[in-house]
Amino acid sequence: MSLEDTGGVFEGGDRQYALTRLSGWLEMVYGPDRVQPTRLTRKQMSGLSRLDLMRYNDSRAVWHANLGPIKTPQLIGLHRDLKEIVDSNRQDGDKAKPAALLDAYPGIGKSTAIRDFARDFHREQVLLRGETTRDGHRRVPVVYINLTGNTQIRGLNAAICRFYGLPTGGDADTLAERAVDAVLSMTTAVFVIDDVHFLAPGKSSAVRMANHLKFLSNVFPVTLLYVGVGVADRGILREGLSPQQALLAQFGRRTTPLTLRPFQIDDDLGRKQWRVLLKTIEKEIVLAEKRPGMLVDLADYLFARTTGHFASLMALINRSCLRAVRSGEEKLGKDLIDKVKNDDAAEDARRELEAAIEAGLLSTRPGGPARKRRSA
Ligand SMILES: Nc1ncnc2c1ncn2[C@@H]1O[C@H](COP(=O)(O)OP(=O)(O)OP(=O)(O)O)[C@@H](O)[C@H]1O
Ligand SMILES: [Mg+2]
Repeated sequence: MSLEDTGGVFEGGDRQYALTRLSGWLEMVYGPDRVQPTRLTRKQMSGLSRLDLMRYNDSRAVWHANLGPIKTPQLIGLHRDLKEIVDSNRQDGDKAKPAALLDAYPGIGKSTAIRDFARDFHREQVLLRGETTRDGHRRVPVVYINLTGNTQIRGLNAAICRFYGLPTGGDADTLAERAVDAVLSMTTAVFVIDDVHFLAPGKSSAVRMANHLKFLSNVFPVTLLYVGVGVADRGILREGLSPQQALLAQFGRRTTPLTLRPFQIDDDLGRKQWRVLLKTIEKEIVLAEKRPGMLVDLADYLFARTTGHFASLMALINRSCLRAVRSGEEKLGKDLIDKVKNDDAAEDARRELEAAIEAGLLSTRPGGPARKRRSA
């Protein structure tokens, strides 16, 4: 594409939407799938003008920063569970709808997985029932809220109003009324409340948090999908006999806990999944000198660098691809990736894992170290 075609503007493929606003959410839900840039050979690249080469590299940078969502077995399993919960929640407004809590480590892909699910659900509902409700309102099957800082009930209600584009003034009750009207008129069926650990955080008791969540389920006739870190550990799903803990029992009975696990290489199934993931990523990479097995050959090394965490792996791959383009290497190897810095947690865990792999105690190869020991 030349500058003339774009009215003299080249914005690149970045999509800067805010998912916590309806307009941004719809952009994500209906945004076209990204198209993988064509893989040019070195010769083809050298035939490009300087500007076209800059644009080609720019499109590769955006592409590599947005790989996925990759449908891992964990993600597929999670979607199946979520679908069962949401699709069976057809109770009338006078009955409580069971909720789900996706609770897992940071950076494991929780938000990516739940948004992918919510996107599919949103599209499916609009396809099934039409864009407009019987009363002529826009149909909004999903509301996505991402909590921050120390959120209280009022802040939560304001976030819901903000999503719909409604005024956010007034006390907690006024806001709740406004939000309920929107839910009913726009026939919202699912609320995703991401980073729910920010509700009554810190030392606040599980009871206070359960109180907040109970409020949501009492007020809104929707399926609540909570996402958070260490929420179950607060004891929120615990059964209790004391009057205080009755609330927890009530919450626990109505909430299905779900999780996503880090990739692991302790058994053959885990090792296979790690290698399949690397093969899938490899297919997505757009570098001139890419060769089959380029990433799988680094399976041990990449596991040590990322401890099997999605966020760490994708950040490392993305930065390494950028470096491979800038340096002209056009392929990924250990030497290049070694120079790329990763997040703190991954770098900390790396040394320990690398030592274990070098000592032959751990391996990503099928058969793994256990078999090695047997044949020794
Ligand atoms: N299925 C996937 N396919 C491709 N990349 C993924 C996938 N899941 C996660 N990632 C990568 O990992 C990064 C972190 O994922 P995400 O934000 O979903 O994790 P999270 O568990 O919600 O993290 P946090 O605890 O910080 O909220 C994403 O930005 C993306 O790069
Ligand atoms: Mg998240």
